[in-house]
Amino acid sequence: MKRSKIKDLLAGVGLGEKVTTMGWVRTFRNDMFIALNDGSTVKNLQCVVKENSGLKLYAGTCIAVTGSLIESQGKGQAYEVLADEVTILGEADPQSYPLQPKEHSLEFLRDIAHLRIRTNLFGAVMRVRSALAQGVHKFFAERGFYYFNAPIITGSDCEGAGEMFCVTSLPHDNAPRTEDGKVDYSKDFFARQTNLTVSGQLEAETYAMALGAVYTFGPTFRAENSHTTRHLAEFWMIEPEVAFADLEENMELAESFIKSVIRYAMDNCGDDIDFLDARYAREENKKTAASRSAMGLKEKLNFILNNDFKRVSYTEAVDILKNSKANKKGKFKYPVEEWGIDLQSEHERYLVEKHFGCPVILYDYPAAIKAFYMRMNDDGRTVRAMDVLFPGIGEIVGGSQREERMDVLMQKIKDLGMDEKTLWWYLDTRRFGSAPHSGFGLGFERLVQFVTGMENIRDVIPFPRYPQSAEF
Ligand code: 4AD
Ligand code: MG
Repeated sequence: MKRSKIKDLLAGVGLGEKVTTMGWVRTFRNDMFIALNDGSTVKNLQCVVKENSGLKLYAGTCIAVTGSLIESQGKGQAYEVLADEVTILGEADPQSYPLQPKEHSLEFLRDIAHLRIRTNLFGAVMRVRSALAQGVHKFFAERGFYYFNAPIITGSDCEGAGEMFCVTSLPHDNAPRTEDGKVDYSKDFFARQTNLTVSGQLEAETYAMALGAVYTFGPTFRAENSHTTRHLAEFWMIEPEVAFADLEENMELAESFIKSVIRYAMDNCGDDIDFLDARYAREENKKTAASRSAMGLKEKLNFILNNDFKRVSYTEAVDILKNSKANKKGKFKYPVEEWGIDLQSEHERYLVEKHFGCPVILYDYPAAIKAFYMRMNDDGRTVRAMDVLFPGIGEIVGGSQREERMDVLMQKIKDLGMDEKTLWWYLDTRRFGSAPHSGFGLGFERLVQFVTGMENIRDVIPFPRYPQSAEF
């Protein structure tokens, strides 16, 4: 007999018929009622076994059930299976199986990331993550973008922050040395120094200069020692790059992109988002009234869909912050005193959550605090950068119009003391048929955080990598 998925059975597919379904036992109540889950939905299927069946079923046991799908006599579900036959496919010892039918802390679950996916919460989060990823590809496919795969191993440091993981096959305890005692990377696998990419942008730019519009969607790596709820050492980034687009168009693209993928997840993961919405409400209720979010999860998502993002220049933002009550009363850890400071997440969140009450796109940042590739404005001190800031998250997107003028770009590279020789291929895009172009990077996990309402970024990626942690 063919296997039915629980999602279909709960929709009544096969009503009145004999069905077979397989999954993992969540609970076995009164030796009669099995709550079964197979990952196809957050909802469990109730399977009723005959009294005195002698079955020993525990949380985590994998079983196959054959029986008739009927309208449920009990409350809580429309359909259930009257089991004729239950076969144990894989036992789970109740003494050692770490998941019990109770709420476990997220910290505890992080230590068993290989099993936490068997909880309702992580099932819902990861199904939403999957839908968001599919929504990403759908959005760009509909707009004629090409999916471009940037290399993971690279010699460049796109963001210039030096936060890279070195990739080498040299023996670390006995690496060959040059005469001046440095590691001799010419003897390394690639005959040069290489690292895991922090961003696929530079390579994406070369493709945009031929295919017109491309996007990456891949893992990126940063060796920053951040212990925050918004940083990972390995995270996924989506980076569109568009020829002939200016910053305006870049902002429009970012806004419609985010709205489109959120809508896609809401349309395709209704049950999961309902579940996460209820959980979010319970979590918020545990907080003090002052720190509680004004909106529920679904309310927040709908708010994003139905409101324009507010566009504000960096200069305006600094004025707002400088003159804010929070700043005057010394509420910021980093007081806002002068133009030119790098905005901290407390500032970003103040703007979004307190001042504007909606997503904000900040643009035209001081050149000195942004990467080398951003287009210089005529004022000579700001660049065509943009950051999209989200409530509860802070920066979700970073992007810019790119500096397409060779002379301006070269000057910048010199001023920053960067090695232009290793960037020869990037500079060729400016040498040969340069064009105005723009792009951005969206941190995929931050988006998943926003849509699922999860507080910690470590809980929205299957196996998180962060300082002191790369188990699994
Ligand atoms: O602002 P970032 O550093 O921009 C770039 O890398 C550009 N090259 C993108 C581009 O223009 N093509 O990173 C982009 C986004 C951030 O806004 C944030 O959402 C996310 O990537 N991000 C991180 N997410 C999780 N953990 C980290 N350590 C992250 N660092 C950045
Ligand atoms: Mg950034």
